[in-house]
Amino acid sequence: GPAPAGTGPLLGFRSVAVSTEDRVTVPQGYVAQALAAWGEPVGLPGRLPPFRPDASNTAAEQEAQLGMHHDGMHFFALEGGRGGLLAMNHEYTDDGLLHPDGFRTWNAEKVRKSQAAHGVSVIEVRQQPDGGWQVVRPSRWARRITARTPMAFGGPAAGHALLRTAADPAGLRPLGTLNNCGSGRTPWGTYLTCEENFAFYFRGPDRPGGHEARWGIGPTGGWFRWHEHDERFDARRHPNEPNRFGWVVEIDPFDPASTPVKRTALGRAAHEGATVAVTRDGRAVVYSGEDARFEYLYKFVSRDRIRPGGRRGNAGLLDHGTLYAARFGADGSGRWLPLVHGQGPLTAANGFADQGEVLVKTRQASDRLGATRMDRPEWIAVAADGWVYCTLTNNSARGSVGQPPADAANPRAGNAMGHILRWQEAGDFDGLRFRWNHFVLAGDPANPRAEARGNVRGDAFACPDGLWADARGVLWIQTDMSAAVMGRGEFARLGHNAMLAADPRTGEVRRFLVGPPGCEVTGATMAPDGRTMFVNIQHPGENPSERGGTGRSTWPDHRPGGRPRSATVVIRRLDGGLIGT
Ligand code: FEO
Ligand code: CA
Ligand code: CA
Ligand code: CA
Repeated sequence: GPAPAGTGPLLGFRSVAVSTEDRVTVPQGYVAQALAAWGEPVGLPGRLPPFRPDASNTAAEQEAQLGMHHDGMHFFALEGGRGGLLAMNHEYTDDGLLHPDGFRTWNAEKVRKSQAAHGVSVIEVRQQPDGGWQVVRPSRWARRITARTPMAFGGPAAGHALLRTAADPAGLRPLGTLNNCGSGRTPWGTYLTCEENFAFYFRGPDRPGGHEARWGIGPTGGWFRWHEHDERFDARRHPNEPNRFGWVVEIDPFDPASTPVKRTALGRAAHEGATVAVTRDGRAVVYSGEDARFEYLYKFVSRDRIRPGGRRGNAGLLDHGTLYAARFGADGSGRWLPLVHGQGPLTAANGFADQGEVLVKTRQASDRLGATRMDRPEWIAVAADGWVYCTLTNNSARGSVGQPPADAANPRAGNAMGHILRWQEAGDFDGLRFRWNHFVLAGDPANPRAEARGNVRGDAFACPDGLWADARGVLWIQTDMSAAVMGRGEFARLGHNAMLAADPRTGEVRRFLVGPPGCEVTGATMAPDGRTMFVNIQHPGENPSERGGTGRSTWPDHRPGGRPRSATVVIRRLDGGLIGT
């Protein structure tokens, strides 16, 4: 295993019990405060529309309010004070909750409101004298980025024929970002937001071509029904529009007038997140998994070193470099396979005209290279000891008829519980080889089915998704059991979704936070002093049987009959101490 990163116990709190209450539970001695719920004004100067609990805010008002379904998040400290900026993703919308009458009377205004509730918020937060935190409104940094915000392409695929549309014949100016799931930050002070399952947004052709079929663009798309009133999302009319999603988007949170850039050099994928490591000689390495069954794990190594000058000095750093897909060997070894046009099978004869096409068709290129098909890789964290950890949330199709069997890296057929892999690069983060093992196989050890039991040391959990390493070396694991399985069968004893703290040296896992019914727990970040932690509660009250189900939750407002809302939770210790000790 990895070498110890320090001495002394990392985890000092008393673990919280499994819970099925409609609240956020944290350890004794801690306090949790809900902040920045869906619909609150984001803080745009002169535009502070209050949230209407019956969801009757207009699309224009939603454009000035926090979006729905909070997900990945990062705290950017402001100089000279106790405050900072929280940049956070709004992954998707539950249109049953977003409008007073849900999907009934579906119209263009509802589509625009759904698009406005997607994307990213930047809010200013400040600590109050009593220790609690508030959103600063108005704020000069406040910003909403939505599914309609003008953006740019950077990198080798910018301007590529596959990115050109009637509205953007140069293929350089995409509009908006969506399904922003995990996230990352760069050492030069920018936020990375990732476009995950974009295929659901497009109504594709009844008989998709090979490229479309490989990406799930077909007749069953259009789940969000945007295409009914916004033809951009009808891929039958605009076949290249889906190619303009699936990218990692770089945002300068300190400049609300800046244009977000889709960094094509990092490849097109159902990107869960983007985690940056730095080589000893100062180059950026970006790890990213693709949260889809049997898809791939990637890393990008920048050509150039990180330069001084912060955000402006590194504006194009992620546009030049090499993308690799991972192949896990059965013997604990691994290789990074370069996705470089002209190398190996990535030739014009095989359908890759140039590097731009390799990047738009990252999945097809990885198929050709023989990368390992994974159990839905989600967040990635680089621990203090230099090992890289990746959650694989679950893949119940593993080993079923016509699907890939269990393999060394994805060792369980019918993998309902998920696992966490880790690897150490040979030499440095740009290494082309690595060695790997399993940090933990998730599951309830009391389960009768061997494949569902796992080997958790400490508090049991399932379906790891969010993963974040704090400055002390604690690995924070956030779970996303689907509402359809939560509390039932093999999940019966695991309660609601939770956040757990793990000690990478010992493997001990301790439950730290439990969320309200139906939610997932996601997006971990801390203020630099390590005394305030921010996490997101996404889709409280989600009901597996219907969209718009208020389920059994009215969190966080607890207004009788009210709508549950995604929100950020601020966690502090009553004695002001370091979180987790
Ligand atoms: Fe959006 Fe992979 O969870
Ligand atoms: Ca996720
Ligand atoms: Ca998930
Ligand atoms: Ca979710």
